[in-house]
Amino acid sequence: MQQKPFCQICGGPVREFLDFGKQPLSDRFVAPDSAEPEFFYRLAVGMCEECTMVQLMEEVPRDEMFHAEYPYHSSGSRVMQEHFTQAARTFLGTELTGSDPFIVELGCNDGVMLKTVSESGVRHLGVEPSGSVADVAAASGIRVRKDFFEDATAAAILAEEGPADVIYAANTLCHIPYMESVLRGVQNLLAPNGVFVFEDPYFADIVARTSFDQIYDEHFYFFTVRSVRTMAARHGLELVDAERLPVHGGEVRYTLARAGARRPSTEVAQLLAEEDAQQLTEFATLERFASAVEKRRDELVSLLRRLRDEGRHVVGYGATAKSATVLNYCGIGQDLLAYISDSTPAKQGRLTPGSHIPVLPPERFRSRYPDYAVLFAWNHAEEIMANEEEFRAAGGQWIGYVPGVHVV
Ligand code: SAM
Ligand code: TMP
Ligand code: ZN
Repeated sequence: MQQKPFCQICGGPVREFLDFGKQPLSDRFVAPDSAEPEFFYRLAVGMCEECTMVQLMEEVPRDEMFHAEYPYHSSGSRVMQEHFTQAARTFLGTELTGSDPFIVELGCNDGVMLKTVSESGVRHLGVEPSGSVADVAAASGIRVRKDFFEDATAAAILAEEGPADVIYAANTLCHIPYMESVLRGVQNLLAPNGVFVFEDPYFADIVARTSFDQIYDEHFYFFTVRSVRTMAARHGLELVDAERLPVHGGEVRYTLARAGARRPSTEVAQLLAEEDAQQLTEFATLERFASAVEKRRDELVSLLRRLRDEGRHVVGYGATAKSATVLNYCGIGQDLLAYISDSTPAKQGRLTPGSHIPVLPPERFRSRYPDYAVLFAWNHAEEIMANEEEFRAAGGQWIGYVPGVHVV
């Protein structure tokens, strides 16, 4: 195990507990005729011994991940559309009720949340570096700045638009290694009584469910209430609320305000106590998690090999970024999965990164159901299983691997 000298939050020593080896970019789907070599990096995770922040040991340059062909479209899930409509309505009914309120969203993607804000006429700005999705948002009338959010971006927005009552980021803050710059920017841009609200996968849930596929290039940080509270305090911000969310396999929505501006809710103390009970910052807990990951890999691979040897037709469902870690760490290729069905046009007709399994549209799945489908988009299980009811009616079975390998 390697030791990395510096935590990206506090500069403390980071102790590694899990190594997935060489991995490709999780969202870089390969054209079948491509001659370009794929980008690989070492995917490993550690915890800072000073501030407890869990983080990747190696950073992938941001331009390799977020660019004009970034394929992930947030509006691809109906459940997530509803989730973000609800988030927007909550802001509109609470924080955005003053005169000429202003909301800034980091990583607005295709505008799934800002659409509701824009329709209400409230002043808003999405900051989104990936041109593919920023253009979709802009085409639906949302104001978008095609840029990475960092301190210079925040200063420019402040100069042009004034302070923000809400700064919001969903599944984006954990993607940004250069947190020092981002939080300086937030501190600068936020109105005196403004809030910085962000939601990301919850490390406590990842450990509890051994959902190791949440670990990939784009997910640089794995937040806990404890590490977020410490991180905020370094920048004159205070964690005033923490709400558990059921989406994406278990997340927390954190609310930060300027220190002393608001009273922390009881949920903050409650979740801190739960994290202590789970011994989340004990290295032994992290080592047990790492062992459980290896066991999960072995169980999944054994099942898929057995099904192949029995001559079953097995495919994957959902060419998620998460699946890149599963496929490459487990060594699953086209010998074990014939193809992966995915509804995203930008992924269809391409090969999965590293493992080179063809990605095909759901129409292909429906035209001849396989015997089994591994559900890589397990965070959308309810929605997908409802959409694909006929698969099971025709005798097909789903294979899941969170919180354990199972067939339903
Ligand atoms: N908010 C959407 C959601 O929850 O579905 C999109 C999440 S997507 C996984 C992460 C987004 O963050 C991408 O669209 C990416 O381009 C964007 N992003 C990455 N770095 C960023 C930065 N520094 N500032 C703003 N957006 C960033
Ligand atoms: P996510 O888990 O990162 O949100 O990615 C979900 C992936 O699964 C994305 O590539 C779209 C795909 N998908 C389907 O193919 N069918 C569906 O019904 C849903 C909700 C997602
Ligand atoms: Zn640290």
